[in-house]
Amino acid sequence: MTVREILKMGDPRLLRVAQVVTQFDTDTLHLLVTDLLDTMAAANGAGLAAPQIGVDLQVVIFGTGAVSPRYPDAPPVPRTVLLNPVITPLPNDSGTIPEEEDWEGCLSVPGLRGVVPRFARIRYTGFDQYGDPIDRMAEGFHARVVQHECDHLIGKLYPMRIRDFSRFGFTEIFFPGLDTPQDE
Ligand code: NI
Repeated sequence: MTVREILKMGDPRLLRVAQVVTQFDTDTLHLLVTDLLDTMAAANGAGLAAPQIGVDLQVVIFGTGAVSPRYPDAPPVPRTVLLNPVITPLPNDSGTIPEEEDWEGCLSVPGLRGVVPRFARIRYTGFDQYGDPIDRMAEGFHARVVQHECDHLIGKLYPMRIRDFSRFGFTEIFFPGLDTPQDE
């Protein structure tokens, strides 16, 4: 059980495309997951990806099991360990792929917030640390946090997804009085 250092934007290790996990249910993998969980909890995060602690593997964790203070109307995101994820955007009834904009923060980009467009509804698949398959639909904040974390596995930080930079800046300016900011 170790709280690891979280790499910050500018570190080239955050820009790598992470390696596929080929062996499940190993001591090394369980240790990594424990470190991710400890590090996310210590940072009051809503999600964390292995590259953020310098580990070049397709492993992300997310979810708090409780209502997010930043998204009080959103249903709680299940606490999830997700390996080798694949995200598929889902169309609406008219066949188009809807997007939604909302604020995001990132533990690797401390003190900042930005409005990021994401797919509104997704299917995501992958495996947990034991190799058991995961196959879920998600929308809203749940879909957002999955897309944010999985972006870390292809070397993308949320500022790279921002289209309107007038809505990118310091948390204390955009959200004065927010005492427990929660980042991904
Ligand atoms: Ni992040």
